[in-house]
Amino acid sequence: MKILVTGGTGYIGSHTIVELLKAGFDVCTIDNFDNSYPSVLENLNKITGTQIEFDEVDIRDKAALKKYFQSKSGIDAVIHFAANKAVGESVALPLKYYENNVGGTINLLEAMQEAGINNIVFSSSCTVYGEANPPVDEYTAILPATSPYGNTKQICEEILMDQTRASDIKVVSLRYFNPVGAHESALIGELPIGVPNNLVPFITQTAIGKREFLTVFGNDYPTPDGTCIRDYIHVVDLAIAHVAAINYLANKKYRDAFSVFNLGTGNGNSVLEVIQTFEAVTGEKLAYKIGGRRAGDVVQIYASCDKALKELGWKTERSLEECMRSSWKWEQHLQSMGNK
Ligand code: NAD
Ligand code: WQD
Repeated sequence: MKILVTGGTGYIGSHTIVELLKAGFDVCTIDNFDNSYPSVLENLNKITGTQIEFDEVDIRDKAALKKYFQSKSGIDAVIHFAANKAVGESVALPLKYYENNVGGTINLLEAMQEAGINNIVFSSSCTVYGEANPPVDEYTAILPATSPYGNTKQICEEILMDQTRASDIKVVSLRYFNPVGAHESALIGELPIGVPNNLVPFITQTAIGKREFLTVFGNDYPTPDGTCIRDYIHVVDLAIAHVAAINYLANKKYRDAFSVFNLGTGNGNSVLEVIQTFEAVTGEKLAYKIGGRRAGDVVQIYASCDKALKELGWKTERSLEECMRSSWKWEQHLQSMGNK
């Protein structure tokens, strides 16, 4: 089978390409380098020993996307990562997010339909649940989104669902919890541009000296140590789930044309636990201060992953320790490369 990966030079896309090739799939990929670099392709070539089939295509450009599909034959399924993902930026620039995340997905669906491709795996997010009582399963009610970014994920899921009713398309929507960590080679990982919003890149950048200190956003939450709880999932475990999702579509094991799965570990860890784990596995002392709460943060969320285990035959295998170890190795690699 040949899989098109959109957003393949990005954080999760690049790790997924490695796992798809490892599992024996053919892969082609597109990206517009909005939030990634061409050097990722060289590193993917090194890790996989394969020349990655890449084209620079912007999914907002419908004509270019259609032309791309006309020029490629044999694509059986698409894994759609390409999107903008910064929650705060989406509040300031909602139109950018609706155009890229929603408009881009519509363009992709049209181009797929024209090319007769009927399988898609979509990158959704636990953000669709908002504040819910964990463990959160797939039947938990979806609340009104708290950001335009979150809304784009909800809207895309609805569009995809509608499209399954109107065509032969089959959709697996994967709701990621908090992806962290990096490939063991330290050749690929998350590349936050500017000041990171997410916890783990902020921790590693502080430890390496790029940031003076980490601010813990609030220690007065109703949790055991007062800090927020999340479900941190290793990006390689997450990547492997995409292989399972493609097999699920290919083997026609699905019951519904639109299926949704939570992808997390099933465990919640607090911000302080993440910091302590980072310190324990790296031997680094992290400079941090307790600050005020960050607007929009939910108190605690972690996944119930029973459905993914039962239907995809997938569960995570990597610990929080492994997440911290690989994130640190990746940060050190970035520094050794002059952060290029
Ligand atoms: P990322 O920014 O590292 O990767 C996205 C890739 O898509 C980038 O390489 C970017 O250049 C590309 N892209 C963006 N717009 C494009 C366009 N118009 N045309 C072509 N390429 C385009 O992000 P990621 O962390 O790998 O996230 C991948 C997907 O997973 C996104 O849809 C994101 O919303 C979703 N997701 C991410 C997280 C997370 O915390 N990382 C959590 C839940 C869901
Ligand atoms: C984790 C915890 C912060 C930074 C985001 C998106 C979500 C999804 C995953 C895409 C929280 C705390 C953080 C810092 C801190 N992405 N923190 N100091 O907010 O759970 O989820 O990424 O779909 O949509 O919202 O992740 O890594 O930002 O925060 O104390 O400098 O770390 O308050 O409790 P979040 P995060």
